Amino acid sequence: MRVEEALCMVGGAGETSYATNSRLQEKAILETKTIIEEAIGAIYMTLLPERMVAADLGCSSGPNTLLVASEVIQVVAEQCRRTGRRPPDLQFFLNDLPANDFNNIFRSLEWFEKKVDEKKFLPYYIVGLPGSFYGRLFPPQTVHFFHSSYCLMWLPQIPEGLESKTGALSDERNIYIGETSPSWVVNLYKEEFKNSFSNFLKFRHEELVPGGQMVYLWGLLQEALHDMVLEGLVEREKLCSFKIPMYAPTMEEVKAVIQKGGLFDIGRAHSFESSWDPFDDSSDDFVLDNLGSSANVAKCIRAVVEPIICRHFGEGIIDELFSRYAKNVARHLLKGKAKHLVLVFALKKRG
Ligand SMILES: C[S@@+](CC[C@H](N)C(=O)[O-])C[C@H]1O[C@@H](n2cnc3c(N)ncnc32)[C@H](O)[C@@H]1O
Repeated sequence: MRVEEALCMVGGAGETSYATNSRLQEKAILETKTIIEEAIGAIYMTLLPERMVAADLGCSSGPNTLLVASEVIQVVAEQCRRTGRRPPDLQFFLNDLPANDFNNIFRSLEWFEKKVDEKKFLPYYIVGLPGSFYGRLFPPQTVHFFHSSYCLMWLPQIPEGLESKTGALSDERNIYIGETSPSWVVNLYKEEFKNSFSNFLKFRHEELVPGGQMVYLWGLLQEALHDMVLEGLVEREKLCSFKIPMYAPTMEEVKAVIQKGGLFDIGRAHSFESSWDPFDDSSDDFVLDNLGSSANVAKCIRAVVEPIICRHFGEGIIDELFSRYAKNVARHLLKGKAKHLVLVFALKKRG
């Protein structure tokens, strides 16, 4: 399966949409605000470009889509005011796969321009860019800053080699890497990640201007998806032919690919834990309301995987699937808080 044809988050602004259920991702972007500010400030003050280009890769559609754009605009405007320099023209590209709800973003631009009231001082242009970030997106050496969050765990395809000559998929009990997956299956995912991430780095290196930078966050969905498999929420035959095209690498695996490629210096690399409940802002390990919390978790996961599940299993199972999934999560939360690890990297282009 080519992920590029099938993948998108739930569009629009309804109850189950990604726009309504992306607080988890928003918290991670806000957590890394200082890293983004640092990178943008350094790029602007070092290069002093008259025309500046920034891009958010895998922007989706919702409040987070324009969050990074507003941070970039505000940091550059502040630097210009502080130094008395003439502001650059800033182009901000919003990239995602073609099935993304770009129209929802475009409809919110009028509101955005009122909110980020800098256009007269710093002329900025927001542009939609459909296409896969595993391929070429920009002309060589034209981009100053790339940002990407909660995206790079999506692989461009189901790892090659999982499919037999008859078309059946190996490791049929798991829709993703599970406890029972043989090591050769785990290695196929790992290899797919290494190849696709190397490609991602290669293209971004070509597209960045000398001195350009990249910041990205890597959210891990592994545990939640694994729970869905263990609870047997879907038909066996359908399940056997379904794989989530995702891989959650460790910090070391990401670093190894970056270092092997030799195209970027790692400016910052750190990780933090985040609760799967987007509305849980506490740092302790207690779950006060496991039912409420599990409903929050289920909505968040549903907004991300619903389109890909519906495409394979049909829309009929989706409400039942997620109501059962929420119950399973509630039971799981009785044992303690469910957290995932977010990896954050700031990379500087070499050469
Ligand atoms: C969980 S959303 C994250 C959205 C946003 N960055 C945020 O933090 O809220 C992941 C997004 O990555 C996009 N995506 C996945 N693979 C992609 C690819 N190869 N090229 C472009 N976008 C991709 C998906 O369509 C989806 O919109």
